[in-house]
Amino acid sequence: MTKAFHSSGDVIADRRAGYAKMLAESGDHTAAAELISQALEIVPDWAAGWDMLGLYCDKAGNVAGAISAWRHVEALDDLCVFGASLKLASHGAGPAGVGTAVGYVEALFDQYAPQFEAALVDRLGYQVPELLDARLSTVMASLGVERFATMLDLGCGTGLMGARMRDRVDFLEGIDLSAAMIAEAARQQRYDRLEKAELVAFLAGREAQTDLITAADVFIYCGALPPVLRAAVGAMRPGGLLAFSLEAHDGEEAVFLRPSLRYAHGIEATRQALTDAGLDILLFDTATLRMDRGAPITGLLIVAQRPADRGNLI
Ligand SMILES: C[S@@+](CC[C@H](N)C(=O)[O-])C[C@H]1O[C@@H](n2cnc3c(N)ncnc32)[C@H](O)[C@@H]1O
Repeated sequence: MTKAFHSSGDVIADRRAGYAKMLAESGDHTAAAELISQALEIVPDWAAGWDMLGLYCDKAGNVAGAISAWRHVEALDDLCVFGASLKLASHGAGPAGVGTAVGYVEALFDQYAPQFEAALVDRLGYQVPELLDARLSTVMASLGVERFATMLDLGCGTGLMGARMRDRVDFLEGIDLSAAMIAEAARQQRYDRLEKAELVAFLAGREAQTDLITAADVFIYCGALPPVLRAAVGAMRPGGLLAFSLEAHDGEEAVFLRPSLRYAHGIEATRQALTDAGLDILLFDTATLRMDRGAPITGLLIVAQRPADRGNLI
């Protein structure tokens, strides 16, 4: 995969791609697209090159050119690491597919892991773990709960959410699609157990035993909410809590794919999905989650509870 990102295997094509990147960085996306097209004449099976062409065409306002380039990527990229289907879907040129685009998300965060905290927290003002922690503290106080025996952090990444909850949880478990993100979390020794796994598949294999499930900035990669909520409820102890964030939109659609390739969820549809999943909504709040391309991203912060039976923890 690394090779696919960095080299076409041909020195001249790589050199042209390098110049194209420089032109794109200087803002001349039309010239960048022309140059990368020349590289692709030499290496027509280079998926990363087609992906660059798609990006440069898109930035130059040539949507038809971008769509054509991403169709080449779709045909060449067996592991789907470039997210061509998502890019096509976000341009109205195909379906987004069902659930997380696993290959794309895994590759994205494997690349991103070493600079994740600096890039997101320091430069983009990412504050979902902090915001979710504050909402959870409010709910815990109102329920009279001081600690959790078990917490499962879905899409734990480098462990920012786990770090916030560590001193209120006996056994802290994290899962993530990205091995590099998991390695960062392991290095910082924030979790009792870590596993590389896709969250819906992982939850499906879980008994109803977890006291608290968290997902900070994760379901925005998963698409439709109902299958995710169903899987989460099945893994929660009756009386257990689910705390998560979403990017929000005001429209009527339950969910749509943004140009950022992250999903935005409708506010009313989200309330309905929680109720349909059998969850009680304890807290449902909006807040600015982070900045993106200079604009604030408004999101939802939600704490929901699986209704308790007799003799439960909470
Ligand atoms: C924006 S990061 C957030 C990481 C962490 N929760 C935090 O707040 O710092 C999103 C994480 O979710 C993971 N992820 C996205 N979709 C996933 C899925 N379906 N299953 C498991 N992990 C997923 C990604 O690999 C990435 O590490």
